[in-house]
Amino acid sequence: MNILLTGGSGQVGQEIIKSKPEEIEIINPCRKKLDLSDYRACKNFVMDHKPDWIINCGAYTQVDDAEKNIQLSQKINGYALGAFVEASNETSTNLLHISTDFVFDGNQNFPYKENQKRNPISQYGSSKALGEELIEKKINDIQKATILRTSWVISPLGKNFILTMLRLHSEKEIIRVVSDQIGCPTSAKELAKVCWRIIELKKKKKLPFIFHWSDAGVASWFDIAVAVGEIAKELDINKKEAIVLPINTSQYPTQAQRPKYSLLNTQNTSNLLDINPIHWRKNLKNILIEYKNLKIYRA
Ligand SMILES: NC(=O)c1ccc[n+]([C@@H]2O[C@H](COP(=O)([O-])OP(=O)(O)OC[C@H]3O[C@@H](n4cnc5c(N)ncnc54)[C@H](OP(=O)(O)O)[C@@H]3O)[C@@H](O)[C@H]2O)c1
Repeated sequence: MNILLTGGSGQVGQEIIKSKPEEIEIINPCRKKLDLSDYRACKNFVMDHKPDWIINCGAYTQVDDAEKNIQLSQKINGYALGAFVEASNETSTNLLHISTDFVFDGNQNFPYKENQKRNPISQYGSSKALGEELIEKKINDIQKATILRTSWVISPLGKNFILTMLRLHSEKEIIRVVSDQIGCPTSAKELAKVCWRIIELKKKKKLPFIFHWSDAGVASWFDIAVAVGEIAKELDINKKEAIVLPINTSQYPTQAQRPKYSLLNTQNTSNLLDINPIHWRKNLKNILIEYKNLKIYRA
């Protein structure tokens, strides 16, 4: 089986590559070889290579910058999916597309289910919603496409909140972090396992069009910042931890509005794939252990 992986240099893409089953071959073009903002290139790449699957981890993920780079984010997060589906209809390729909690508005206080209506409140969210809509609209056989929504992705590599907090804990005495946005982190490594499980099970049975996945538990950014400080000190990554003070979203203005509440209901995914999510704090510790090992290895 051969798989076209986009976004192979990103957090999720790297974990997909690391956990690849032996019998699977991955084609992993860098941005220069396949620019997701180029509709024709996306379509032609699939037509030329005729992969069995596309795993689409590539995305315009700078949530604040998307507010000004609207067209670019729509091309990469939206129209590229239209191109992939148009080609996949002809080549009989399956699509696994990674999407986001940001397709919801965050105005409820219980976890979002897969069938709830999209109502994004940022340009990033709108561009990701556009991608989902185009898959839905253009796909000939709905069994050939899967959307896997996730939230607050973290890993020992790349750019993410954990690595920013690690640095701030080592540099500052006090860190002020937003405590009124509620969601749940997702270990990129655990998400990659879910991707491979979907691909494996799809060979044997019909599965739903949309899945939700995050780690187990609930957190605010403040909670995660506190946990990073504690665990990093315990693991001797940092010599000290800063005092973390909770603030409101209004005290930390950003270009893009973010959902106040973006927990995803993962029950259905868990049941259908027979995988139980691990609590986010446990995954966070594993990520920090891996970070420490990578640091020692690089030094
Ligand atoms: N990060 C989160 O908190 C989060 C939360 C929910 C959902 N998601 C979704 O999860 C997926 C993976 O996210 P991630 O955190 O792994 O992202 P990431 O680390 O920011 O990586 C993004 C990837 O997309 C590639 N990319 C960006 N623009 C491209 C273009 N024009 N052409 C080709 N490749 C391009 C990047 O390549 P370069 O190396 O060339 O930049 C990189 O490999 C995305 O669909 C994202 O929307 C992420």
